Amino acid sequence: MFRDLQRIDGYIDPPDALVFLSLIGRQRQENLLGGLAEIGVYYGRSYFLLRKISAPDSNVLAIDLFDIEENDAQYQRFLDNGRSLGIPVDEELVISGDSTRLDPQAIIDKIGHVRFFSIDGGHLLRHVLADSHLAESVLADHGIIAFDDTFNPAWPEVTIGVSDFLRRNSDTFSAFCMTKYKTYVCRRDFHDFYRAAISEALHLRPFEHAEMDFLGSKVIRLHNPLNRRVAYELLQRLGMSALSEWAYRHG
Ligand SMILES: C[S@@+](CC[C@H](N)C(=O)[O-])C[C@H]1O[C@@H](n2cnc3c(N)ncnc32)[C@H](O)[C@@H]1O
Repeated sequence: MFRDLQRIDGYIDPPDALVFLSLIGRQRQENLLGGLAEIGVYYGRSYFLLRKISAPDSNVLAIDLFDIEENDAQYQRFLDNGRSLGIPVDEELVISGDSTRLDPQAIIDKIGHVRFFSIDGGHLLRHVLADSHLAESVLADHGIIAFDDTFNPAWPEVTIGVSDFLRRNSDTFSAFCMTKYKTYVCRRDFHDFYRAAISEALHLRPFEHAEMDFLGSKVIRLHNPLNRRVAYELLQRLGMSALSEWAYRHG
């Protein structure tokens, strides 16, 4: 899984890849069904991760403007990446356009209600407000929203947008997990279930688990110690990408 991630340009930190794996695996164990969706696919690093860990289901919806490069090159590289990983993109499940203008029904028509929604598109307040509203409207009761770049000083409006979402929906939604880059949110009825899924996950044992309060709910903050990050980066830079996974598998 780590080796595949490193072959695709993009942004997902290994701890978040392991959180995705743990949460989607737990949903599968409990037969909590539904589609998966991502706003902000870029070249597909986290999209292909979602495809891989939700297989054999094939119901991951990709939403992106695909306008970073000229002549459709971003989209073509996304398709090429799928071919080279042996996970071909299902183009029926791609929405090329502005997520902030998307009708929720367009998502439901393609994948039904969503059990895991990754939000990593536009990073301004208006994007986060629109995207979180969209995710909320299509989320299954047991659905999870993973917000990217929360508490990243480079993108302060993401933090404001996620906080606004949680405060506006404090009766129904709460955060249950945070990493260096992402905040994981679900409906309050499932808060204890997903918090337990994180605290019990074998894949997440290498991390320090700290409990904190965030806007009225208990959140597990996963801390990735510096020595592990350094070991991972070193192995990668030495071209030993297969071995770099070891840094996260031996606590
Ligand atoms: C940080 S990148 C996403 C990284 C990706 N999740 C990964 O795993 O590498 C942000 C992406 O959001 C897309 N984006 C930005 N604004 C958007 C919008 N309004 N609607 C849809 N996609 C958008 C950009 O085209 C870009 O591909």
